[in-house]
Amino acid sequence: MELMVGPEAKVRLTGTKYACGTGGCGACTVMVSQHDPVCKKTRHFSVVACLVPLCSLHGAAVTTVEGVGSIKSRLHPVQERIAKSHGTQCGFCTPGMVMSMYALLRNHPQPSEGQLMEALGGNLCRCTGYRPILESGKTFCTICTELFAKDEFQPLDPTQELIFPPELLRMAENPEKQTLTFYGKRITWISPGTLQDLLVLKSKYPEAPLISGNTSLGPAMKSQGHAYPILLSPARIPDLKTVTKTSDGLTIGAGCSLAQVKDILAESISELPEEKTKTYRALLKHLQSLAGQQIRNMASLGGHVISRHCYSDLNPILSVGNATLNLLSEEGLRQIPLNGHFLAGLVSADLKPEEILESVCIPHSQKGEFVSAFRQAQCHQNALPDANAGMRVRFKEGTDTIEDLSIAYGGVGPTTLSAEGSCQRLLGRRWNALTLDEACRLLLDEVSLPGSALGGKVEFRRTLVVSFFFKFYLEVLQELRAEVKPPASSQDSQLHPEVAGRFLSALGEFQVTLPRGVQTYQSVDSHQPLQDPVGRPIMHLSGLKHATGEAVFCDDIPRVDKELSMALVTSTRAHAKIISIDSSEALDLPGVVDVITAEDIPGTNGDEDDKLLAVDKVLCVGQVICAVVAETDIQAKRATGKIKITYEDLTPVIFTIEDAIKHNSFLCPEKKLEQGNVEEAFENVDQIVEGEIHVGGQEHFYMETQRVLVIPKTEDKELDMYVSTQDPAHVQKTVSSTLNVPISRITCHVKRVGGGFGGKVGRPAVFGAIAAVGAVKTGRPIRLVLDREDDMLITGGRHPLFGKYKVGFMNSGRIKALDIGCYINGGCTLDDSELVTEFLVLKLENAYKIRNLRFRGRACMTNLPSNTAFRGFGFPQGALVTESCITAVAAKCGLPPEKIREKNMYKTVDKTIYKQAFSPEPLIRCWNECLDKSSFHTRRTQVDEFNKKNYWKKRGMALIPMKFSVGFAATSYHQAAALVHIYTDGSVLVAHGGNELGQGIHTKMLQVASRELKIPLSQMHICETSTATVPNTIATAASIGADVNGRAVQNACQILLKRLEPIIRKNPEGTWRDWIEAAFEQRISLSATGYFRGYKAFMDWEKGEGDPFPYYVYGAACSEVEIDCLTGAHKKIRTDIVMDACCSLNPAIDIGQIEGAFIQGVGLYTTEELHYSPEGVLYSRSPNEYKIPTVTDVPEQFNVSLLPPSQTPLTIYSSKGLGESGMFLGSSVFFAIADGVAAARRQRDVAEDFTVKSPATPERVRMACADRFTDMIPRDDPKTFKPWSIPIA
Ligand SMILES: Cc1cc2nc3c(=O)[nH]c(=O)nc-3n(C[C@H](O)[C@H](O)[C@H](O)COP(=O)(O)OP(=O)(O)OC[C@H]3O[C@@H](n4cnc5c(N)ncnc54)[C@H](O)[C@@H]3O)c2cc1C
Ligand code: FES
Ligand code: FES
Repeated sequence: MELMVGPEAKVRLTGTKYACGTGGCGACTVMVSQHDPVCKKTRHFSVVACLVPLCSLHGAAVTTVEGVGSIKSRLHPVQERIAKSHGTQCGFCTPGMVMSMYALLRNHPQPSEGQLMEALGGNLCRCTGYRPILESGKTFCTICTELFAKDEFQPLDPTQELIFPPELLRMAENPEKQTLTFYGKRITWISPGTLQDLLVLKSKYPEAPLISGNTSLGPAMKSQGHAYPILLSPARIPDLKTVTKTSDGLTIGAGCSLAQVKDILAESISELPEEKTKTYRALLKHLQSLAGQQIRNMASLGGHVISRHCYSDLNPILSVGNATLNLLSEEGLRQIPLNGHFLAGLVSADLKPEEILESVCIPHSQKGEFVSAFRQAQCHQNALPDANAGMRVRFKEGTDTIEDLSIAYGGVGPTTLSAEGSCQRLLGRRWNALTLDEACRLLLDEVSLPGSALGGKVEFRRTLVVSFFFKFYLEVLQELRAEVKPPASSQDSQLHPEVAGRFLSALGEFQVTLPRGVQTYQSVDSHQPLQDPVGRPIMHLSGLKHATGEAVFCDDIPRVDKELSMALVTSTRAHAKIISIDSSEALDLPGVVDVITAEDIPGTNGDEDDKLLAVDKVLCVGQVICAVVAETDIQAKRATGKIKITYEDLTPVIFTIEDAIKHNSFLCPEKKLEQGNVEEAFENVDQIVEGEIHVGGQEHFYMETQRVLVIPKTEDKELDMYVSTQDPAHVQKTVSSTLNVPISRITCHVKRVGGGFGGKVGRPAVFGAIAAVGAVKTGRPIRLVLDREDDMLITGGRHPLFGKYKVGFMNSGRIKALDIGCYINGGCTLDDSELVTEFLVLKLENAYKIRNLRFRGRACMTNLPSNTAFRGFGFPQGALVTESCITAVAAKCGLPPEKIREKNMYKTVDKTIYKQAFSPEPLIRCWNECLDKSSFHTRRTQVDEFNKKNYWKKRGMALIPMKFSVGFAATSYHQAAALVHIYTDGSVLVAHGGNELGQGIHTKMLQVASRELKIPLSQMHICETSTATVPNTIATAASIGADVNGRAVQNACQILLKRLEPIIRKNPEGTWRDWIEAAFEQRISLSATGYFRGYKAFMDWEKGEGDPFPYYVYGAACSEVEIDCLTGAHKKIRTDIVMDACCSLNPAIDIGQIEGAFIQGVGLYTTEELHYSPEGVLYSRSPNEYKIPTVTDVPEQFNVSLLPPSQTPLTIYSSKGLGESGMFLGSSVFFAIADGVAAARRQRDVAEDFTVKSPATPERVRMACADRFTDMIPRDDPKTFKPWSIPIA
């Protein structure tokens, strides 16, 4: 049992959040403290509670966020600063962030910036874009930021921290030697106190694994549903943690954590001469990017070595470094080499069942020896490597003749592979270009990866095999040049020849640095009353509660009486008839109460084409078929595996857009807009280019997964529902029709949502309705909490897109005609696909005025989970097609892309393709300011200079304009209501129809109420969003929530103030409270409903005309990146964003939205990649397989500025909704990468027009930078193998 489901659940410490259960997100971070009696020090370290076994904590103190500080008692500076620096939005990741920072500060009260980045590398945040979180952490660093006044925060006083509990200290000082045994229902945990006892136990239970960090064993047991009956814990045995330094090397105890190994290596490196530390340096390098800090704190060296994961980052280096393993058993000590045979798992080279690994001996490197390590992953931090390598070479003294060579690769086969054959063949060869070629050939022969290899990316990984070696070759060559001087008499020009400067760019890797940035916005007018908070950077109202863990999310609601848990059973087939569902075995399991199927639904089962629970047939893997209800969550989940469903496969089975087009499989009719005469225009242009673009889908990855609690009431079929949703009215309506009870009997409550991004608009209604059926059938409350895997499998996300364009233009770059056709992969049901198609087509023109245009869009029906709304709603995919088209025109005209953009941009008041009039003036201002603020032209020249001088690293730059339309294309979707009560003590309760998703809507609404009622924020409160207070609400989406609800709140406040006016006039010197008391006495209602009828918006698709959007948000972003052409990695050097917010209601929140959306966009366009099997099963179902950006993905320089305020009479106080628009600006990074790739291709004389594919992952970047290494690798005929995954865009 892990800590997370242990005592925390019982004592209801809900601050620690559960978001993945696989150690990959850091939401569950807590601090563990252990006293070391030998060095008399207490060690504090962060761990992930979802993987820490409870029993392993014997003798340790655990600090959760509740123990750090609280609003009720005392806030800790970490908590105060993260909130006040605006480092919280939805707040679901915040306790984990706080704990990682807190653990860091317990060890280093003044950490370095590097330590801060390292500490937060294992914590994911989907909302903020990290910049403000890092900003708060920076205030503790030695070099402090200038952004905050010194007296702003309470100081950090380490003497005030909780002490290590004295009873635990006593225990640690006098450790008991006897074996401790903990008995569970399924597992017995045995923790011996001495090494001898451990060896006896291991011989008695040879099958029992040693459980060290549980970071390998834990996830494996969870995913395979397998539990070992006996686990042996070596945690209490100090002998396994000893470190011995000899003149030959280091012997490190197998029980040392990887974090400790890192410190030990760093210490040795500082003590020893450089030549002896080459292996240590290589190990240290990988230990910096291996997993996150929490995992490094938990994982042991022994566990790492013994797990022999094919992707292990350390084993290839240990193997080439000639490490040996010291094994112990009752028989005594035995040594085996950590070599290729051990790593391949050969029985003859392995541990015997009764043996344990005591320590690992890592010899010093020798004189004349070179050791290096290489690794490439989807992103820099917290990502398993796609491939890695350890390489070592030794030369005959004073020569460049290879005496010993050892190369091992990870990630290119089922185990770490030693290229022994190649190395043998290269002995005696000179270290020169001929050897390089020969080595590449041999390595590709020996390390062969089949086309169908697990994990895919086959050609990329093959390329890395030789690219890594090339890097090693150059590295060594450089050092050889420095170390081995050719004899004066030598005529041999081959002896370490000089490497031309520009080729040296193959060396060196991107370093992680703490991002810096400036946020610019206009302060409020100096005449604005102090009490009036509008326009001020007010902290998120829940910020402090997020930071202390006191903010209550749906699943933090305590268990209610007789509550049951629900788990869903989903289809394993993509298109099949359901022949039978047999629940008998599941029903027999302990704790299982019922199985809910479609037959239990009293009302309607969703729509004809989109059933809540499948009937007769399934349309995708992951479709919900039935649900198990049990006493506990674990029982319910376990029982889902016992439900036997038989299927009969149906045809056709369609996954890809290509197949859908072939089968004419569409969800709705084509949407089309046209202006001018496209065909005629194509006849009168200088050039025409046609191209294709593929844009992958995106998982919402809200940190709080979908969840709902349904409580049936005893009277009148009433039902209370607590849901994590963006649209409670939709949940209410769906539940009503499912149960066949009037809407008025169902009440939906939403306190706060741990991130939505569009993913909690439609789907929560499905989960709510299924849970409600269970609650009604059993008569008991039901809680349904999706785990990450199910959430990712079932819910769908952003639509993948395939776009084709044909563009006609003059040689000057003026575009005369553009024809774009887009297909999106909608999945198996309509959901929002028709709307997304409409928005896609409406928004395709982005910022450009092109006289002859044709845009078409179509949603494909495939056998995949239904895709749905996602921040930007089609725009981020569609506009990428348009911008790619511009880039293609630029390449053909030989002009910089920004010139083409400028030339074709809207310049004067004009009409869009759908004939909506608008003024592009703010767009031009954003563009010009961005050019200016980013010093674009100077830096562009520098980039070109850099590229001339560097062959293997290229820089790229892109400046992207944006016209983003806000809102829904229908007036009724813009209506909003609010309810404002004033109580007799003067306090005000505001309710409105928007939901708090982290975007700060409640904060903004209180700012509005505060201005209108002219009373301070401190007198205002928002409790929750509820269908009982404000009915018939519209989803909080489309960037419009604060606008429309703000108008409703304003209206309610104005009504109230009007009622109070006579009283105020009568007693102008009175206080607010006096007036309220007087109003009550005079029987004036102190409650008012506010209403906003909505912005006018419509679209006539027949005519292709309308005013679909109330207004536009304009912006521009300039990004610069550097790419490593040999690995495909990139670093983001700088981004400047200029955005037009008119008059921001709250610049801190708005800048937070821009930054957060931008980083989410960076994820969409660079790292977030969904993988589907050829059978339509989503592989990427955890943060370990699906990489959203981490702290290391923030541009090194990240500046955001808002244009000076301007007026737009339409919106509340002239503010604009900025929730979604920043997303597309992430494409500036994509185009900067493409610019770098184009530079590489130009230099290599490869065609510059390559198919743009998003995301621009290291794989795609590497393969696009075609060179002699990509030419060298074997290519498979696609017809000859079944690939591991299929592209669906
Ligand atoms: C989120 C996450 C990210 C990760 N990222 C990376 C990464 O980027 N690169 C990478 O290389 N790895 C990565 N890993 C894997 C990680 O390095 C290993 O899981 C870890 O090192 C295993 O150590 P452990 O102590 O947790 O082993 P455990 O899970 O405790 O045990 C693993 C195995 O080792 C055996 N064992 C443990 N100690 C001994 C001993 N003394 N003698 C004999 N047998 C023993 C056990 O019996 C068991 O079979 C990641 C893991 C997670 C969860
Ligand atoms: S929930 Fe533990 S790391 Fe994600
Ligand atoms: S604030 Fe970090 S995930 Fe929402």
